[in-house]
Amino acid sequence: MKKNTAAITGVQGYVPDYILTNQELETMVDTNDEWITSRTGIKERRILKAEGKATSDMAAEAVRGLLEKTNTNADEIDLIICATSTPDMMVASTACIVGDKVGAKNAFGYDLMAACSGFLYALSTGSKFIETGTYKKIIIIGVDMMSSIIDYTDRSTCIIFGDGAGAVMLEPDTEGYGVQDAILKSDGSGREYLHIKAGGSLSPSTHKTVDAREHYVFQDGQPVFKAAVKNMADVSAEIMERNCLTSDDVSWLVPHQANKRIINATAKRMGLGEERVMLNIQKYGNTTAGTIPLCLWDYENQLNKGDNIILAAFGGGFTWGSIYLKWAYNSKK
Ligand code: UT7
Repeated sequence: MKKNTAAITGVQGYVPDYILTNQELETMVDTNDEWITSRTGIKERRILKAEGKATSDMAAEAVRGLLEKTNTNADEIDLIICATSTPDMMVASTACIVGDKVGAKNAFGYDLMAACSGFLYALSTGSKFIETGTYKKIIIIGVDMMSSIIDYTDRSTCIIFGDGAGAVMLEPDTEGYGVQDAILKSDGSGREYLHIKAGGSLSPSTHKTVDAREHYVFQDGQPVFKAAVKNMADVSAEIMERNCLTSDDVSWLVPHQANKRIINATAKRMGLGEERVMLNIQKYGNTTAGTIPLCLWDYENQLNKGDNIILAAFGGGFTWGSIYLKWAYNSKK
């Protein structure tokens, strides 16, 4: 019997309609379009403004589109893994809520929190259930509603983040397409530089924590930037070396969209020109777990069966990693 690999057989994204431009940010904090563009590459980001809507609503939109596109009934889904740092609520998990919203009544689901590396961790975890033959249809979601945890008076963070969701279908393949290798890492000492202070068991929510604005993302940008440049480039080079891939063999780099300068450094290290690097940071900003599936969605029409693709991310935790996959289908162009 041929060995199963875990192949992505469809991808779909969702971003909310509201566009928060650099120009609008100029009216909110002391910043300017030139600074934001040159330091990050971001021009605009999407914000979920609809009353009563949350992370699960963006994810459910992406999953509904994915089911339609892949001709899948919701009750065929075995498992939903939702990578997010902005769950709808502390309990229940967003994966369960999404399953309910899309009618995936035979699926179980759980959330996975690894900040910006969440999609890679979830994809790697899901692929093991496929490779072992345990499940046949798994949906991996990367989604974040960063606007719910961003302080729009803090210019060092509010210019970076946006809201969005991406989802992929993972199925067994017997021809060798799909996930080939993964290198996943973490270093908890990095939490000092990127965290949300309150709202967890260490510092539960109180009037004091709210007044001190401790429920928002804190980021000390420079150390995070340095660690991101080094680790994302290192891990991407490592996965190429481990799989005997030269830069000519790599069709696409799909980098986490945190900062265009970090993306450029990673591509340079891998020997890739910008024509082989997926980029949508200019229009969505950093959607945390959403960036990689949103890139795959945006570039799906340019992907061909057999393309060697390297996914790479770095984020809070610290967490980082790289996945090598062989694209499994030709899109209807
Ligand atoms: O996705 C999760 C992982 N996160 C990341 O990978 C993010 C990594 N970090 C970064 O991308 C960058 O560090 C930032 C984009 C966050 C900041 O860029 P930077 O080039 O590291 O800027 P900086 O923090 O060193 O600040 C440079 C200057 C400072 O002014 P002085 O001290 O030189 O006078 C800041 O006060 O820019 C100032 N500044 C701003 N100016 C205009 C900081 N934020 C802004 C702003 N607009 N929004």
